[in-house]
Amino acid sequence: MKPFIAPSMLSADFGNLAAETLTVNESEAGWFHLDIMDGVFVPNISFGFPVCKAIAALARKPMDAHLMIVEPDKYVQRFADLGVEWLSIHYEACSRPYLRKTLSHIRQYGMKAGLAINPATPVECVIEFLRDIDYVVVMGVNPGFSGQKFFECTTEKVAVLKEIIDASEANVLIQVDGGVDKSNIRMLRDAGATSFVAGSAAFTGGSPKEAIAALASEMEL
Ligand code: DX5
Ligand code: ZN
Repeated sequence: MKPFIAPSMLSADFGNLAAETLTVNESEAGWFHLDIMDGVFVPNISFGFPVCKAIAALARKPMDAHLMIVEPDKYVQRFADLGVEWLSIHYEACSRPYLRKTLSHIRQYGMKAGLAINPATPVECVIEFLRDIDYVVVMGVNPGFSGQKFFECTTEKVAVLKEIIDASEANVLIQVDGGVDKSNIRMLRDAGATSFVAGSAAFTGGSPKEAIAALASEMEL
């Protein structure tokens, strides 16, 4: 898969959500990234199904929902019903047996299953799940808020993870989420990432369409 930007709708202007969604449709973005926060797993609450539904009604690119919530299993079917194609859950949010069970539920509902890992979680923890997942979300910041500073060590984590995935011959894509901008996107791509979530870098200042194009061209340089 060719590397692409997944704009995080959390940074969109919610007063103009329809227009922001249409702008992403017209942009070079590959996916819509939906950040779901419950105020328990992370110290913030973002948005829920009504907002996802409004985006889904207009979105013309695949939707990728990132669940930063406890007990994600409860909501798998509802995200499938919304038309979400890629659904990630956090390694730190559930205990082992539930983690595998939820990943398999995600696939049973016809979605691609992702495992997200916090900056403090070593990449090696995904090894035992490589056959159960379609993507790993390597967090570049602690989940909960957009606009945070990128942890530089993320690039090395991506490189190590890429080696692990290649050695296992698993078909698993690497997404980087949090703090991605023009200064680090090329390095992250060279390290082996394919999907780049951009919140503030896509929506803060100027036109999102141009910001997404600028990120994409930085990545291709
Ligand atoms: C963080 C979210 C990210 C974040 C991205 O908890 O998962 O998707 O909103 O925003 P930026 O790109 O501003 O870090
Ligand atoms: Zn996210």
